[in-house]
Amino acid sequence: MSGLAADFSILDDCDALIEEAEAHPLAHVRWTPPLQEESKFYLLRTGNQFGKTWCGAGETIFRCLGSHPYKTVRKGPIEAWVLCKSWSQSVAIQKKLWTLLPKDAIDPETTFSAKNGFGGVQKAVVFKNGSILRIKTIGQDTLDLESATIHFIWIDEPLGDEGTFAALQARLRRTGGEIMITMTPATTGDLTWLRELVTSQQVADLHFRMEPENFIPMGATEPLKTEDGVAMNADWIEAERAKVLPWQRGVRCDGDWEYASTNRALEAFARDRHVVTDLAGSGLLPERVEIDVGIDYGEDALRTCGVEVYVDPSGKYPRIYVVGEYVPHQGTTIDMDADGLLEMLAVNGDRWHDIDHVWADKRYEGRTTRKNARNLAESIAKRLGVTGEIRPLIRVAKRGLKRDHFWSSIRWLHEAMIRPGHFYVDARLVWLIEALEKWDGTEKSIYKDVIDALRYALRHHWGARSEAPGRVLRRAF
Ligand SMILES: Nc1ncnc2c1ncn2[C@@H]1O[C@H](COP(=O)(O)OP(=O)(O)OP(=O)(O)O)[C@@H](O)[C@H]1O
Ligand SMILES: [Mg+2]
Repeated sequence: MSGLAADFSILDDCDALIEEAEAHPLAHVRWTPPLQEESKFYLLRTGNQFGKTWCGAGETIFRCLGSHPYKTVRKGPIEAWVLCKSWSQSVAIQKKLWTLLPKDAIDPETTFSAKNGFGGVQKAVVFKNGSILRIKTIGQDTLDLESATIHFIWIDEPLGDEGTFAALQARLRRTGGEIMITMTPATTGDLTWLRELVTSQQVADLHFRMEPENFIPMGATEPLKTEDGVAMNADWIEAERAKVLPWQRGVRCDGDWEYASTNRALEAFARDRHVVTDLAGSGLLPERVEIDVGIDYGEDALRTCGVEVYVDPSGKYPRIYVVGEYVPHQGTTIDMDADGLLEMLAVNGDRWHDIDHVWADKRYEGRTTRKNARNLAESIAKRLGVTGEIRPLIRVAKRGLKRDHFWSSIRWLHEAMIRPGHFYVDARLVWLIEALEKWDGTEKSIYKDVIDALRYALRHHWGARSEAPGRVLRRAF
């Protein structure tokens, strides 16, 4: 909404004009060139936050209205579908559609709520000209392709596979309809099928890189603005690029098909900035810190890891001081791990009871060992002479997280490394330092486990918002 508000700002003192613009937002939005595309099947491929979804919403509405500012489209009424991959994505898209819809062109029975999107069991927008726009969520709605007569399909972020796409194309054959896909690649599954359709020119590929000129709408000189009103200019681009992990930049910024291969996932990590000899005695530590521990299990040498972190949570972003590592160079039992972890704490003069948060990997069932939070806690309790549960409890880091939390937590760490004064590692922690320098971003890397332990230690910082799984996701249609 405020993206629009930014565009309305020139109309400041003229209430009538503001009202007009709110009633007919489409007429006041400036569009980028993809809306001119005339192919039947086309793909808008860019990095994140380019306005892909916004573009798709605009295109879909123009087609439902039966008039388009940049090309000739079929006169209504038509049936259009928007395909979404999840309920939460669908609600976000419906909000964008609602913002852009000319309210006097839609049937008064079409209702909208910011929480649930369009009303009715079958989510749809009915236009006064008879056009219908249906919102479909793959996996939740049955795509009743056999009986549907569809003229236009918008797919936001790739979903489905070659088979689904072929079935959709077949549906459109009778009407001669079009499909528009808007997406940032590599964020959803294998796209080989789509690349092949592009190579064989069955789908037109509108690819825009993250360059200032691509954020300037047709006929304008100023760039688009973000929802917070920030101009998407060269400075913004630079800041956005810096936030993205280097090897993800091609995809997330430039809309490339594949992630770049690089041998350093955490590019911002630098010995001269982040590694400090005798961190505790360096004067860098604040007076009060939170003590966090993360544990990752495995069987072989270097696969079980523990990390101790001091955190100063008082500022806008937590300051991170990594002070301990437990990295056995041979396979270990749970009792050996308990000893090792207590020793890691003891080096810094800390005891188990001093810890504020302990997070561990989910249970591990190896060839010869079984490791989990419960037997680790029991082993530690035995050593401390505690009967019953130890405090703090060892919590399972992955519980309550979204399945795709991994890269967002790595980005979170990487951002801490970018922020001056927010990430330090004691020079004693040679294995962690090597891992931060050399981890290539892969799952199988020998360096990944200690990085997991570090991520887990900070779980309550980066994972705070998703601790309670969103209720709406379980909503039944
Ligand atoms: N033509 C436009 N006029 C005004 N604002 C726009 C326009 N296009 C996009 N925006 C603004 O740019 C921001 C990003 O838009 P949008 O969500 O469509 O991008 P996206 O590429 O789909 O992002 P993501 O990769 O996160 O899905 C939004 O804040 C939107 O308001
Ligand atoms: Mg989008």
